[in-house]
Amino acid sequence: MENSNNISEEKKWWGDKHLEQINGFWFMPFFAPKIRRVLAEFNPRPSDVILSSFPKTGTTWLKSLLYSIINRSSLDFLVNNNPHDLVPFLEAQVYGDKESSAHMSSEDTTSTRLFSTHIPYQLLGKTLESSGCRVVYVARNPKDTLTSLWHFTNKWKMADEGTWELEEAVEKFLSGTVPVGPYYEHVLRYRMASLNNPSKFFFITYEELKDDTKTHVKRLAEFLGCPFDDDKEVEEIVKCCSIEVLKNHEVNKSEDCPVWFSTPYNSFFRQAKVGDHTNYLSDEVIKRIDAVTKEKFHKSGFVYGI
Ligand code: A3P
Repeated sequence: MENSNNISEEKKWWGDKHLEQINGFWFMPFFAPKIRRVLAEFNPRPSDVILSSFPKTGTTWLKSLLYSIINRSSLDFLVNNNPHDLVPFLEAQVYGDKESSAHMSSEDTTSTRLFSTHIPYQLLGKTLESSGCRVVYVARNPKDTLTSLWHFTNKWKMADEGTWELEEAVEKFLSGTVPVGPYYEHVLRYRMASLNNPSKFFFITYEELKDDTKTHVKRLAEFLGCPFDDDKEVEEIVKCCSIEVLKNHEVNKSEDCPVWFSTPYNSFFRQAKVGDHTNYLSDEVIKRIDAVTKEKFHKSGFVYGI
């Protein structure tokens, strides 16, 4: 099943928009050819670091943290660059229409290249495992992920689609027909990879990172082979990558959209709260999602997400 590019089905997602299925996962048709290119052409180096995630689980935060951990001499780069322009998505920027060859053509094959992706392990896993590169996966609890996705989707500049109603978002999230869904299978398979191969796959949750960012930044640096000597340096990185600091840089306040996606730069920064879903989801919906989480996560031995 891995690395096969067959499209088997199309399904309605939001308004008139459809998603394409590649081996059991759903993607926006715009990204499907780029994903196929990544699967066919991407050949990671052992020195590469790949940040992988389901959308809306803290990707932007991890991009800023990982970039800072690896390039720590000065943190000025965060003032002038949105984290997505520092750490490109393989399937959007590196193998996108306006791909920059600079992303791929470093002469120094031992230098650390940092990429990110939303492509599920089920599709990209063989490529990642066989290359010996390091992978960091961030997961977030399903109710906050869904809430964040719902807010974000309604900021897309696809005006003709109208509002994505929350009730519809819940149904689509649970049936898996959201971009890169199904969520549960995405998370579980990367978690399994981290259990099987912990020296190459680092699995972290948004909630534990929020709870004690400093400790986990140190753990990430050790995993990446560049541990910190100085606690002050860690504290500086934690502060510079906090949402409070990041969202106030002009580049991150911008209403402009990146060339590779049609949501404004500022849409990547919102509340950043654990448990924000309680402000939007009814008790009944929460019970429904929790039941699915028990079935999918807890029964697989991953007691998380409720
Ligand atoms: P909310 O919508 O719950 O606020 P992604 O980066 O994967 O698209 O995820 C976006 C979510 O991460 C949003 O969550 C956003 O606010 C939050 N986020 C962005 N930057 C962050 C940061 N520096 N620290 C913590 N959370 C951050």
